[in-house]
Amino acid sequence: MIESSDFRTKRMSLNHGAGRLPVLGFGTLISDAAATISATRDALEAGFRHFDCAERYRNEREVGEALQAGLGAGGIAREDIFVTTKLWNTNHRPERVEPAFEASMNRLRLDYLDLYLIHTPFAFQPGDEQDPRDQNGNVLYDRGVTLLDTWRALESLVDHGKCRAIGLSDIGLNELLPIYESARIKPAVVQVEAHPYLPETELLEFCREKCIVLLAFAPLGHGMRPGPLEDPVITAIAARVGKTSAQVLLAWAVQRGTALLTTPMTADRARENFNISALPEDALDEINHIQTRQRFNEVVKTGSPGFIPQGR
Ligand SMILES: NC(=O)c1ccc[n+]([C@@H]2O[C@H](COP(=O)([O-])OP(=O)(O)OC[C@H]3O[C@@H](n4cnc5c(N)ncnc54)[C@H](OP(=O)(O)O)[C@@H]3O)[C@@H](O)[C@H]2O)c1
Repeated sequence: MIESSDFRTKRMSLNHGAGRLPVLGFGTLISDAAATISATRDALEAGFRHFDCAERYRNEREVGEALQAGLGAGGIAREDIFVTTKLWNTNHRPERVEPAFEASMNRLRLDYLDLYLIHTPFAFQPGDEQDPRDQNGNVLYDRGVTLLDTWRALESLVDHGKCRAIGLSDIGLNELLPIYESARIKPAVVQVEAHPYLPETELLEFCREKCIVLLAFAPLGHGMRPGPLEDPVITAIAARVGKTSAQVLLAWAVQRGTALLTTPMTADRARENFNISALPEDALDEINHIQTRQRFNEVVKTGSPGFIPQGR
């Protein structure tokens, strides 16, 4: 499933021949428009070829602008990059899927998409308000649509050649299993929070068995401190092997068989996070034995973005 031993060029083949996902991905959850453009450009220049976007991040337009400029200036072909975006919770009704998809494609300036994900398994009241609430501040869910209804609409996008692969995000094994079993086109990718404090071992095992790529977000624990970046096991390994804590965490993610998303905000950090290489086996064992367990992002419990990145 994994090709190439150089992490920087390593890709994972997606099931049903739906393309090859670069293991090192750049995430675009960036609240500022100008910062989105500069960070996306820096990531492309550093060598990142997977760009993870979402309707909910409200910056697909800026990502599209940066990618178009970067591809032109760098002599990089569209086929060399892999673009993911996500359907938001307010668009789960089947008749809303294709319009939401086309709107994302327009903002991203793309004529095909590599991967479309259902952002969370929670359907919100349909409409333009991304965070619909009642007068008491409670989220308004939509009970009139099932996740399988939405999945069928994504399958139809693949049938019509609009996107190459489809998958799910912020989902646990219990919700993934029935979709996997009923799906005509099986999920190619599952995107969830994963790092040494939340290894998602059972889900990873299932994904391995079924040839689904587990795409880890928050591989640096969202940069939270205290968190994995400051864990004594990680800092000791980093000192021993002459790498930074971030490089150790990202290498561990690749070596255990996941693809990853990271969000460096400067050109230096983009190069640091891209230029990673394999850790020795004993270092991997030490990381696998870390006992701390912590989830940083609560989105998986409610469907509401549970986390605002620090400093943004
Ligand atoms: N599906 C979902 O629900 C979901 C949820 C969250 C995220 N995501 C995706 O995952 C992507 C990754 O986001 P993330 O927050 O999870 O990424 P992350 O890489 O775990 O964390 C980013 C944070 O780490 C810091 N950082 C980055 N590189 C560093 C380095 N070399 N050394 C020290 N600190 C470093 C950044 O700090 P500075 O800002 O100071 O550079 C930032 O605060 C997002 O952009 C998004 O595409 C998806």
